Formats: sequence, C-alpha cells, structure tokens
Amino acid sequence: MQETAARESFGSRAGFIFAAAASAIGLGNFWRFPYLVNEYGGGTFILIYLISALTFGMVLVTLEVAVGRMTGKSVIEAYGDLIGKYKWIGVITVILPLVLLGYYCVIGGWVMKYAVVFITGNIEPFSSLEGSSAYYDAFVAGGSSDIWNGPVIWFIIFLLISTVVLIAGMKKGIELISKILIPILIMMLIVLIVFILMIPGIGPGIEKTFVPTLDGLSIDSVVAAMGQVFFSVSLGAGILIAYGSYLGKDINIKKTMCITTVMECVVAIGCAMLIVPMVFAFAGDVDVQGSGLMFKTLPAMFYRMPAFGCAAGAVFFITVFFAAWTSSVSLSESVIAPLRDSLKISRVKGVAFTIVFGGIIGMLCCLSYGLLSDVAIGGRCILDFVDFVSSNILMPISSIILCIIIGYVIGTKRVLNEIGVDAKSGYAKYFNVMIRYVCPVILIVILLGQI
Ligand code: PHE
Repeated sequence: MQETAARESFGSRAGFIFAAAASAIGLGNFWRFPYLVNEYGGGTFILIYLISALTFGMVLVTLEVAVGRMTGKSVIEAYGDLIGKYKWIGVITVILPLVLLGYYCVIGGWVMKYAVVFITGNIEPFSSLEGSSAYYDAFVAGGSSDIWNGPVIWFIIFLLISTVVLIAGMKKGIELISKILIPILIMMLIVLIVFILMIPGIGPGIEKTFVPTLDGLSIDSVVAAMGQVFFSVSLGAGILIAYGSYLGKDINIKKTMCITTVMECVVAIGCAMLIVPMVFAFAGDVDVQGSGLMFKTLPAMFYRMPAFGCAAGAVFFITVFFAAWTSSVSLSESVIAPLRDSLKISRVKGVAFTIVFGGIIGMLCCLSYGLLSDVAIGGRCILDFVDFVSSNILMPISSIILCIIIGYVIGTKRVLNEIGVDAKSGYAKYFNVMIRYVCPVILIVILLGQI
C-alpha cells in the first residue's frame, strides 16, 4: 500500500493557468453554453453569466485554490486539516467528478465520432435537419452491427486516451497537454469565428445573440446562468483544491485565478458567437436542446454552408474534442488526487480505480439510449439522470460545504493569508461577505432552482 512519492507540482505559473483553463474550457462551453444562450434570451443571459462568473465564480475558484495550497492536500485530507474527524464529508466532492466523468466521456466519444465523420467527408446524412437527427438517434442507440457506428467503441477510446495523459502524471501529462492544446483550441476557435462572420446574412443572428433585452430577464435565466458558471469554471469537484495543492507558494492566486476566469469567459463568448448566430442564419428558431444543438442541428448547418462546410465541421469537432479531452483529464484528477492522498496509493493505482469506476458509470450512460433505453430513474434516462445528479445537485452541495467550513467553522482569515491579502483590506471584506453570505445563498438558490 505504501507507495507514496514526493508530491507532484506544476512546472510553472503558465502551466497552472493552462491546466486550470483546460479544466474550465470543456463541453460546458461548446455544448451547454450556446443552447442556454439561445434558450434564455441571448445577450441578457450572456451578461448575467459574465457578471456571475466575475463575481461569485471568481471568489469561489480563488477560495478552492487557496484551500488546496494552504493545506498542501486534495479535498478529503484538506478537510481533515480544517475540520478533523469530519473530513469524510469531502467524499461528496470526490463522488461528484467520478460520476460526472462517466457521462462526460460518453459525450466526448460522440464528439470524436463526429470529428472522424467530418474528417473523412462522409457527411451526406446531414443534408437535411431530419436526416441529421435520424443519424444521431441511430448512432446513440447503437443498433448497428458495425461497432464504429455505435457509441461504445468511441467511449472506450476516449476513456483510454484520457488514461494515457493521467498515467504520464502532472507535469508530463496534464500540464503538457494543457499547454499545447489550449492555445491550439483558442486559435481554431478564432479561425472558425472569422469564417462564421463571413457567412452572408449572419448579422441579425449576431444581434440576437449579443444585444441584451429586458425580455430575456427572468428568475429562470438568472438561475440557469449562475448554474452554468458553476459547471463551467469547474467548481465543487475538488479539482481546483487538488491543483492548488500542486501550486508553488510564490504564485499570486488572486491574479492567476482572475486570468483563468477571464479566459473561460472569453472562450464561452467565442462559443456563443460561433454557434448561435449560425443557427439563426441557417435554420431560424429551430428546436435546439442540449445535445440536439451540437449533434443534430450543427452538422446540418455545416452541410449547408456555401463553401468549406466539411472542413469547418471537422475543425469544429476537433476543437470540441480537445476541450472535452482536457476537461475529462481534470475530472479524473479530481478523483485520483484524493485517492492517492487518503489511501497512499501510487498514481497508476489511482488512475486504474478511477477509470474502472468512471468506466462502469460511463458504460451505463453509453447504453442509456440503446440497450438500457427502457431504464428510467426519476423520469430520466440514465445519462440525463447522471448529468442531473452530478451537475445540479452534488456540485452546489459540495460548494455549500466548503463555504460553510471556511465562512463559519474556521473563518476566512487563514485563507486570506494564503491569498496574500491584508485581513483589513477592502478585498478581505468583500471576500468575507461573499463566502459567508452571498455565495451560500446563490448556491442554495441554484440547488433549489434546478431540482
Ligand atoms: N468545466 C468543465 C466544462 O465546462 C466541466 C468540469 C466540471 C470539469 C468540473 C472539471 C470539473 O465542461
């Protein structure tokens, strides 16, 4: 059992920034954000999202990283340091990414399949919206005798390529791919946006996407935007606590987390700009729900483009694949780090546990539109149920626990010290009010609003 090695660490501040951004930028940006923007009134939703991300989102990411660095441990042992024998409450924060990992890798697998379809140019099924929908439905149901036309093989490949990075470790695995893939991803996103902006008739869609209107303002849109911030900046999964524990003491946490949060917001806006106006331009107000938008509507939009649609589709799905890959790696690390810290096991054993259990949950999700399509939990298929429990319930609960521990049990003083701010400064007062009052209230609203 005793296979402890010296604690790993990030090689540089840039490495940390890219790893944190790589965790944040994921399916949440490409898959969830655009359909929420479309559903909740465009510009207003984006504005609420930005305000939430730059206020409570930024405070909570700073808190998580500070707790990790202050204790030098990942979530369960960090809680041990803070609240002693009640540390097992941190188990919730480990179960969450394990569950999330399962369904995340399933969708990551779908993205890989679509990338391959566009790369190989077999896009005839997307010649109409109906055809595109039928193709997606048949693919996720996995009824075909050709395994490459079903989701299981893609899910397994996706899980395996994440495993390779995890086994390579922090510096040579997670930090390295984040430093390589995030700049490439941002460049590809820019190229795609420029391409989309050149499409004739795109103007009204841009206006609809970005100009805030009072019509878009509702309790539901506020709750949805705040919930999305949560998912998108990777809160409540313990990953930022783990990354914080790998962070050098000389690094300014406040500034660093400001950079990663802004990066996340910029990419989110880029994704909205890329996807929502195109849907307006080509399809009008089509039904664009969650997976439906990315896997049914968008392929048909790429098919309809006057030129280079196939290439644009390929670049798009490769970009989403990079985003999903790097986020799935960080989700796995959220489980591996506490396992290693608490059970004193090697990285390889931690990876094996995470991949096997995440894989079992993922396999159930993967079959939820096919073999297990008759299984419904609380009126939802397995994949939707797993998504609901992890993102809508466990994520806010896990963050409420952290706010209570810091705000009410141990006090914010130690954390502020770790962040390097004077306890009497304006920021300290702001931080205190956010952690003790504003964030818990927002989290409870998100929790109740989504149940
Ligand atoms: N932030 C990721 C996304 O937007 C999801 C994620 C949540 C990753 C929590 C790690 C931890 O897709």
